[in-house]
Amino acid sequence: MNNTETKQKLLDQLYEPYKQCLLCPLAKQGRTNVVFGEGNVNSHLMFIGEGPGREENEQGKPFVGRSGKLLTRLLTIVGIDRQDVFITNIVKCRPPGNRRPTFEESSTCKKILLLKQIEIINPKIICTLGSCAVENIIEKQVAISKIRGTCLPWNNRIIIPTFHPAYALRNPRVIETMVEDILNAKRKSEI
Ligand code: URA
Repeated sequence: MNNTETKQKLLDQLYEPYKQCLLCPLAKQGRTNVVFGEGNVNSHLMFIGEGPGREENEQGKPFVGRSGKLLTRLLTIVGIDRQDVFITNIVKCRPPGNRRPTFEESSTCKKILLLKQIEIINPKIICTLGSCAVENIIEKQVAISKIRGTCLPWNNRIIIPTFHPAYALRNPRVIETMVEDILNAKRKSEI
């Protein structure tokens, strides 16, 4: 079995027991799909958002709604095909009304799925989208406008935070900054 097949198998085995997960309150708040994440399991670059929205919940795929379309466009601008990177979220089930996940929800999901996904995929660079993602990973509150674009060392990897595409949809002036941050993340992942 090659590296890709091994990683894919490990990820499939990780996902399997949680396809109907009941470990946090999001299980019973309108969830249709546990949105595990998708993309290249061998990528050195991983993107982590907050949690699935309505369309992601329906389709079972991350970032396929309006925010996702913007993310895909930003990736294209910097020369990344979205299939070539791995994309996931802090929580895998949709928070009702797209509210921010609670500490209980995000810490549960992080422990059972996210940290293990990161271990298996083993990316050099993690580009977090929005404050929820970076705060949950580094376990510290941040001002996203201050730390975006910086390199935060974390568990032998580098976190590069940027804004959330949903924020950019409301504030298009940050799109250029996001392009800069994603390009920086791409370049660092290639070193
Ligand atoms: N917002 C997120 O944070 N993640 C998604 O998958 C979609 C929208």
